[in-house]
Amino acid sequence: MINGIATLNDRRIFFLGVNTGFLADGKPDERYLRFYATRSSSSLHCAIIGNVVVPGGYGSNAVSPTLTAEPVWTDLAAAIRRGGSMPGIQLATAWEGYAGSRRFVGAKPHEIIQKARQLVTGMGRGRIAGVLDSFEAAAAMAERHGFSHIQLHAAHGYLLGLLVDSRINSDSMYVLERLATLAVILRRAKVETSIRISLKTGEPNFDNIGTADFQDTIARLPFDYIDLSSGFYNIDKRLIYPTHPNILAARLNESLETGARHPDRAFILSGRAIRHDWTKLPSNVHLGLCRDLIANPNFLQEPHSGCHNHNKCHYYSRGSSHLTCGRWLNA
Ligand SMILES: Cc1cc2nc3c(=O)[nH]c(=O)nc-3n(C[C@H](O)[C@H](O)[C@H](O)COP(=O)(O)O)c2cc1C
Repeated sequence: MINGIATLNDRRIFFLGVNTGFLADGKPDERYLRFYATRSSSSLHCAIIGNVVVPGGYGSNAVSPTLTAEPVWTDLAAAIRRGGSMPGIQLATAWEGYAGSRRFVGAKPHEIIQKARQLVTGMGRGRIAGVLDSFEAAAAMAERHGFSHIQLHAAHGYLLGLLVDSRINSDSMYVLERLATLAVILRRAKVETSIRISLKTGEPNFDNIGTADFQDTIARLPFDYIDLSSGFYNIDKRLIYPTHPNILAARLNESLETGARHPDRAFILSGRAIRHDWTKLPSNVHLGLCRDLIANPNFLQEPHSGCHNHNKCHYYSRGSSHLTCGRWLNA
């Protein structure tokens, strides 16, 4: 159910990560800046630019930009702020040799989990520490560029998501302590923070054990928001970009259950979030949007006119190099 945005004022609305692919020479280009400038507004609390690789890190596809000290990033933050929203950035890394699957549902999900465990075990404390150093350096760089919200991408099966999960990484406590320290440092610097996780991976045997404990461990970290996504990219993308009513309903339930266990923590709900009857959502649950705002830059002013499920935005799975949309024809 879509309600008038005017009465949404006690809810914060986020434009969640989009890896647009709008790059020239590996850097955000004019299309990237315009994409975010035209979607920022005083109705949108924060626009979080998606999947920006930490220096020294690895992209999840060939068009994931790496954060640098170059002025284009300052220009991007300034464009979002001029539009009326808080500039946010999602920091991420995959690993050497990572390849995103083009399929929506992976054939051997248990192998993805098994390989994740092997990868992390092979890294050892030293290399894990190096990854965390890169996130800290990237966060400091993002702050210098003027980003006022920093999100750590620990969802979708990318490296940080593997490192924070004790079911995959036996040294996860070390990682969680370092992330907690980073969150506190950023809060002192008056930077808003979030961590994005996947509620589940999509591998049923794995998800059957310890999932609520994992969510609770993350919810106790001192980030301002816990952003609840779902699914591992190479296991089941239908959980990341849900369209089927059953998947949407399950994601809503899992998000609300997590939120209810931590009433003093703030969460970001996504998966057609604004189409739920958000007036009934608990007050610690805020709204994250993606496809509706891709499809219509003015969606917050025209809340009945969003994504039509053409599925063209899944450009990587479709073998294209940048964002496309069946409705928003500037893509
Ligand atoms: C084209 C496209 C690119 C996306 N890129 C990212 C990304 O870079 N990082 C991320 O965490 N999620 C990414 N997502 C997932 C969205 O942030 C969001 O969680 C998902 O689309 C569900 O929200 P929605 O129903 O409002 O679209 C992407 C989604 C789409 C459609």
